[in-house]
Amino acid sequence: MYNLLKGKKGIIFGALDSKSIAWKVAERAHEEGAKIVLTNAPVALRLGTISELAEQTGSQVIPADATSIMDLEHLVDESMKLLGGKIDFVLHSIGMSVNVRRGNHYTHQDYNFTKKGWDVSALSFHRLMSVLYQRDAMNEWGSIVALTYMAAQRVFPDYNDMADNKAYLESVARSFGYFFSRDKKVRVNTISQSPTPTTAGSGVKGFDGFIAYAEKMSPLGNATALECADYTLSLFSDLTKKVTLQNLFHDGGFSNMGVSTAVMDAFMETENPEEPVKEEKKK
Ligand SMILES: NC(=O)c1ccc[n+]([C@@H]2O[C@H](COP(=O)([O-])OP(=O)(O)OC[C@H]3O[C@@H](n4cnc5c(N)ncnc54)[C@H](O)[C@@H]3O)[C@@H](O)[C@H]2O)c1
Repeated sequence: MYNLLKGKKGIIFGALDSKSIAWKVAERAHEEGAKIVLTNAPVALRLGTISELAEQTGSQVIPADATSIMDLEHLVDESMKLLGGKIDFVLHSIGMSVNVRRGNHYTHQDYNFTKKGWDVSALSFHRLMSVLYQRDAMNEWGSIVALTYMAAQRVFPDYNDMADNKAYLESVARSFGYFFSRDKKVRVNTISQSPTPTTAGSGVKGFDGFIAYAEKMSPLGNATALECADYTLSLFSDLTKKVTLQNLFHDGGFSNMGVSTAVMDAFMETENPEEPVKEEKKK
């Protein structure tokens, strides 16, 4: 361990169970010397196993539904009391689409579900930053990170309305990030993570095929939840003070690939399974 976050205080949203990316971030932040408050929606506290994480990291859990401004205000006020002052880092690790859950195709959305998913997954980031900004709750050179996915830029058909939610989330990171950086010297960034086998990730239709494809396309392979936690910590640390308003790809190189030899090979095999690829053909 490097004591990267020694003396720092943070709030971590979204640890549901040990597969959650936020769970790994909380474990690593604790190992690196931070004091943290954990939070999740009241229903997730009942269904998940967050109390184990709280015990393991010596932290308190404060319930907050990210769609409720009152819950967020209470969370921020109580966190400052518990942690003994202003906050140094915040992780927004929240995502949910009712259309995905109900199996509604992108072309046949229930717009009430669309609004709900947007409220939880995207507008919640604006709401959270608004509470932190208005309460002047962040220390100078603090850091706010939200997790996102590349479907914000490119088409992944089964990612459904979450693609639009992530595009909005990334835009909010830039727009609010400008004011947070200018007025409070606080960084705001999004990390665009590889597909990862968690509860939210596995909810996407055809996830197994999707993750296997990304693995074959990425020269370094998919990034794991733990690797994402390590990268997140670097953004919480003092080593990245001037990184702000960025959408940072953490995906083993996937986002800059056109095609990989591994994917090409898979197609050659499908096209002509009997015939081995000849040397001349390869050239
Ligand atoms: N798993 C992947 O493949 C992947 C890839 C890229 C980005 N992400 C993003 O990472 C983040 C974390 O997801 P994860 O993969 O760890 O899955 P996860 O299911 O473990 O985490 C999602 C969290 O959102 C919380 N949440 C839902 N509604 C909420 C509400 N109203 N208020 C507060 N919290 C609420 C859930 O309780 C849960 O803890 C999400 O933003 C997700 O979109 C995931």
